Amino acid sequence: MKRWTISSLLAAEGPRDEVALKGWVRTRRDAKGFSFLEVNDGSCLANIQVVVDASAEGADRLRDMGAGAAVSVVGGLVPSPGKGQSWEVRAAKVELVGGSDQETYPLQKKRHSDEFLRSIAHLRPRTNKYGALFRIRSELALAVHEFFRERGFVYLHTPILTGSDCEGAGEMFRVTTLAPGAPAGSEAEKSDFFGRPAQLTVSGQLTAEPFALALGDVYTFGPTFRAEPSDTARHAAEFWMVEPEMAFADLEDDMNLGEDLLKHCVRAVMERRPADLELFAKWVDPTLMATLEKLAVESFVRVPYGEAVDILSKASKPFEYQPAFGKDIQTEHERYLAENHFKKPVIVYDYPKDIKAFYMRQNQDGVTVAAMDVLVPRIGEIIGGSAREERLERLQARIAELGLPMEGYDWYLDTRRYGTAPHAGFGLGFERLVMLVTGVTNIRDVIAFPRTYKHLEY
Ligand code: 4AD
Ligand code: MG
Repeated sequence: MKRWTISSLLAAEGPRDEVALKGWVRTRRDAKGFSFLEVNDGSCLANIQVVVDASAEGADRLRDMGAGAAVSVVGGLVPSPGKGQSWEVRAAKVELVGGSDQETYPLQKKRHSDEFLRSIAHLRPRTNKYGALFRIRSELALAVHEFFRERGFVYLHTPILTGSDCEGAGEMFRVTTLAPGAPAGSEAEKSDFFGRPAQLTVSGQLTAEPFALALGDVYTFGPTFRAEPSDTARHAAEFWMVEPEMAFADLEDDMNLGEDLLKHCVRAVMERRPADLELFAKWVDPTLMATLEKLAVESFVRVPYGEAVDILSKASKPFEYQPAFGKDIQTEHERYLAENHFKKPVIVYDYPKDIKAFYMRQNQDGVTVAAMDVLVPRIGEIIGGSAREERLERLQARIAELGLPMEGYDWYLDTRRYGTAPHAGFGLGFERLVMLVTGVTNIRDVIAFPRTYKHLEY
């Protein structure tokens, strides 16, 4: 018999004599002569109520159908007399698919702390909150693809294993087949799998650029890895990044694209996952809906770095790090700008070249580069991007100036030797997007099995 999802049952237009559903029991209540099972199958936030009469087939095993048990139900779909739900199922037959030991099943309470649920990451998707979270995460991923598809971007898969440590975006994880404790050095490296050092990629950008300079508009969306020893609520060692790269584009095009992408993703979730979003507005962040509506409708603020530093210098808020021109904008500053000063997303652009990557396009002033970061309330930086230095001589000079090994960049420089063109792109941290949309403040809670500093389980 066809299995109905609970989401399709609850949206049914009329009663049905016989439907089949399968899912996991959230709670069971026993009354005289019958029982109520609240069943959830992950298709939506809501449970469906199953009423099991003592005479139903399989009712003798009801006592084993406690919280967490997998069950299969066949019965009639009838209007529910209960509040808050349209339909319920009158079971003709119930079957225990997989039992759940009531003595040890950890999800008995109605609410558990995020910390506790993190310690059972394999069971937390069974809770309302994490079910909703991962449906929203999926919706966001699809919204990303939809956004780029509508605009004619080509979806590119850039490598995850890389021989290039040229990005300079952060510490890299080394990949090796050498035995632990094997001698280091270039002789030993020759016997390693690739015969040379290899790493996990920190960004798909450098390998996306040649494709933008051939296919026009491209994007990558894949896992990236950073071995930064920063134990914060917004850094993960393994995270996903969305990286568009556009040929014949400048910094303004880049900012427009980033702003449009965020708006599109927020709207998609508001339209398609309202019930899941509601949960976060109710339990996680009461200001969530107002924040998202504002983000979806109002233009982002755009300020040059220099002005942002002025604003920060005049702020009455005491910062741990004193803001000054030429210094990095810290998370506390980013959040001050977006949360307190402008109270909406802010794009800071034209950063000093000394605090940004070598590939960013140099501005006329000789001091700044055409870089931009999108900062959002509660999180800070969510997007980092730039126009790329497309002028061969300037790029070579910058590489030399920074003392980077020119040989490693030969292939990259080829894109500037043959048919170079202005181009721009950015990286959107996908987990930070999920945090933005749900109001969740810890990156560990938006990743199925998080990998962070000093933490790797599963
Ligand atoms: O600013 P980042 O380092 O930029 C790049 O890697 C560029 N190559 C992107 C490009 O232009 N194509 O990283 C981009 C974004 C950040 O704004 C942040 O949202 C996210 O990636 N990010 C992280 N997210 C989670 N954990 C980490 N450790 C992250 N590091 C960066
Ligand atoms: Mg950045």
